[in-house]
Amino acid sequence: MMRIRLIAISSLLWAGMNISAVQAQNYSPAVKNGSEKFSNKAKLIRGPYLQAASDTSIVIRWRTDVAVRTKVAYGEDFSGLQKKVEKLELATEHEVKLVGLKPDTKYYYSVGSLNDTLESGQSIYFKTLPKPGAKGTYNIGIFGDCGALTVNQAKVRDQFNEYTKDIDLNAWILLGDNAYNDGTDIEFQAKFFNIYKDRLLKNYPVYPSPGNHDYHDVDFGAEYAQNTHNTAYYKNFTMPINGEAGGVPSGNPAYYSFDVGNIHFISLDSYGKEQENYYLYDVESPQVKWVQRDLEANKNKGWVVAFWHYPPYSKGTHDSDTDGIMSRLRENFIQLLEKAGVDLIICGHSHVYERSKLMAGHYGHSSTFNPKLHQLSSSSGLSDGTPNSGAYVKKKNEKGTVYVVSGSSSYVGKPYPDFPHKAMYYSNATDAGAALLQVQGDKLQFKWICADGIVRDQFTMEKK
Ligand SMILES: [Fe+2]
Repeated sequence: MMRIRLIAISSLLWAGMNISAVQAQNYSPAVKNGSEKFSNKAKLIRGPYLQAASDTSIVIRWRTDVAVRTKVAYGEDFSGLQKKVEKLELATEHEVKLVGLKPDTKYYYSVGSLNDTLESGQSIYFKTLPKPGAKGTYNIGIFGDCGALTVNQAKVRDQFNEYTKDIDLNAWILLGDNAYNDGTDIEFQAKFFNIYKDRLLKNYPVYPSPGNHDYHDVDFGAEYAQNTHNTAYYKNFTMPINGEAGGVPSGNPAYYSFDVGNIHFISLDSYGKEQENYYLYDVESPQVKWVQRDLEANKNKGWVVAFWHYPPYSKGTHDSDTDGIMSRLRENFIQLLEKAGVDLIICGHSHVYERSKLMAGHYGHSSTFNPKLHQLSSSSGLSDGTPNSGAYVKKKNEKGTVYVVSGSSSYVGKPYPDFPHKAMYYSNATDAGAALLQVQGDKLQFKWICADGIVRDQFTMEKK
């Protein structure tokens, strides 16, 4: 990794520092002539986008067409962005970590070079996460298999933005296959960064998980890239792997955890091969050992939500009865999460929407699903006044998980002939959509917002 020297300059130091010599070194001949209007003004071609937010820090990234120096100005008052961070090295990939921030606080920011501001304004802001464990009202966006550059991708984005226009998200998460078909940098630019740049990327930190298509950058089936991280996915995203946003440090950007207040999120890699030997379904894998440590350390959190790409239950565009990864995750892995009382598991990969009732203990084929044995509640969870639609009620650490497949933020695909999966209460293979998770203290609501703006499924859980 390129070694960089970070210089954080306070307002006081900034005022007293003579940087003209440094500027002249790089913007000749224009700057040598005393002009600030140097000819090679950079253009912003990616971002800014927000990464690895915690209650006291955030990473801001962007890309310029030519190499320039790096500057972020920020502050709580839009009219005066008093604080600055600069890097003096020339770069096209710009990454700045702001630290020492106040929790749950809105900051305006600008990005640019030393001479130019490339992005600023009242709509350019971020909010730090609340303190880990703090109860509040939180909103988290969920996009699965999003980067396909389809008409549906734009519609889903627009309807999601419309539905959430009066609220600020605390974060949004990605369920993998974030840029089709091979997860190259060009595809990430065209199918992810260009599509979500206007609101989601500029204002809300995004926490990704990798899908199989994010690994195609190296060559098809290059799961070994989990070791090398030599793919656009790992180069484009900054993950909180040191426990800075809560959770046990993973030390590996393939998987990590973070807290949004009283919600503990766990992002996993269900495709990459760790140490060229282990998959997520290998219970002896470093990833699973880390998951166990992380669950143990966070068992008293209000809510625990895990997300990854390959679903353990699906009859959408992939069949969990026959797919090797999906079967093994169901047979070997998910019982660890259920035992720890994980409340919600959200996956993608199948380009459909599927949602179970509150359940546990089903590790076999779809045909062996028995509601009497495996459902912990017969309620629809809709909480909409219809018969038997009460919220799912759980005690802390008690078993009971709702499984969601939400892999249709861009593609919708033809399901298997025996769709829907028997574990699912609601299944939809005709509409595209993205999801919204809303938590108010001990109440959790999940909504699936479709490309036409209709919320076609929702459920509510409560903790007692
Ligand atoms: Fe996939």
